Amino acid sequence: MKTQSPAPARRQNLESQPHQPALVWDLPVRAFHWSLALSFLGAWLTSESERWQLWHISFGYSMALLIALRLAWGLTGTRYARFSEFVRGPAAVAAYLRSWLQLRPRHYVGHNPAGALAILAILGVAAALTASGHASYAELGGDWLSEVHEALANVLMALVVLHIAAVLLTSLLHRENLVRAMLTGKKIVAAGEEIRSARPLFALILLGLLAGLWWLMFFA
Ligand code: HEM
Ligand code: HEM
Repeated sequence: MKTQSPAPARRQNLESQPHQPALVWDLPVRAFHWSLALSFLGAWLTSESERWQLWHISFGYSMALLIALRLAWGLTGTRYARFSEFVRGPAAVAAYLRSWLQLRPRHYVGHNPAGALAILAILGVAAALTASGHASYAELGGDWLSEVHEALANVLMALVVLHIAAVLLTSLLHRENLVRAMLTGKKIVAAGEEIRSARPLFALILLGLLAGLWWLMFFA
């Protein structure tokens, strides 16, 4: 949501109110994000040795489960979690990038249009990566499949490095700590732009499903 120029009446209203941090990211989005980041790191660190293979595939299947849950949450979740809120067309992405070139990047409460594109790329590559990992594990292909799997892992690592750099740069330019917002769920926003519930039950379901997957992988 663009917040650069609220209507004058609303701006006056805003200026007369103390700006308190308010909830923007619900708990399922935050639980998804940090579980995905940990799973990626875990899968990356355990990829080289046979000894760690069970850990490697457990982290990998966790990523696949998380992506499936995030796709469902993108259709049914709270305001800023929904794809319809942050996935925009090429014109919006171009306008956003132009605002960067002018060193005055537009401010959005949720994901900005370029960030949204990066998120779709991360989700897409991560889905292909886990599918190729599963196919390698099930020996459905030859050496070429392992090579595709490894190449996709490198592409995702490059996207993640870009993602983290973009998050830090945007935080600096807007003087807004986006990493803290992804941890606490809160940002300073105009009245009425916050979400009403953190939806803890759905976050618990997500974490419960992840725990179930790890139990199945190690003990079933
Ligand atoms: C230390 C590492 C990381 C930090 C500090 C970080 C930080 C963030 C922040 C601040 C956002 C919100 C951006 C915004 O305000 O628009 C975000 C979103 C996102 N990040 Fe990361 N990230 C990290 C690692 C990763 C990794 C490893 C992945 C994937 C493998 C990832 C995937 C995503 C995705 C998919 C979103 C969108 C969240 C959603 O709407 O569900 N991030 N990240
Ligand atoms: C369902 C998820 C996954 C499964 C079942 C899986 C399975 C495997 C298997 C069986 C191998 C060894 C054989 C081969 O090279 O094909 C492997 C290698 C590898 N995996 Fe995965 N993987 C998964 C997800 C991931 C993820 C998310 C990453 C990235 C973080 C990753 C990175 C790698 C890398 C870099 C190698 C090559 C290691 C080397 O030989 O140097 N995998 N994976």
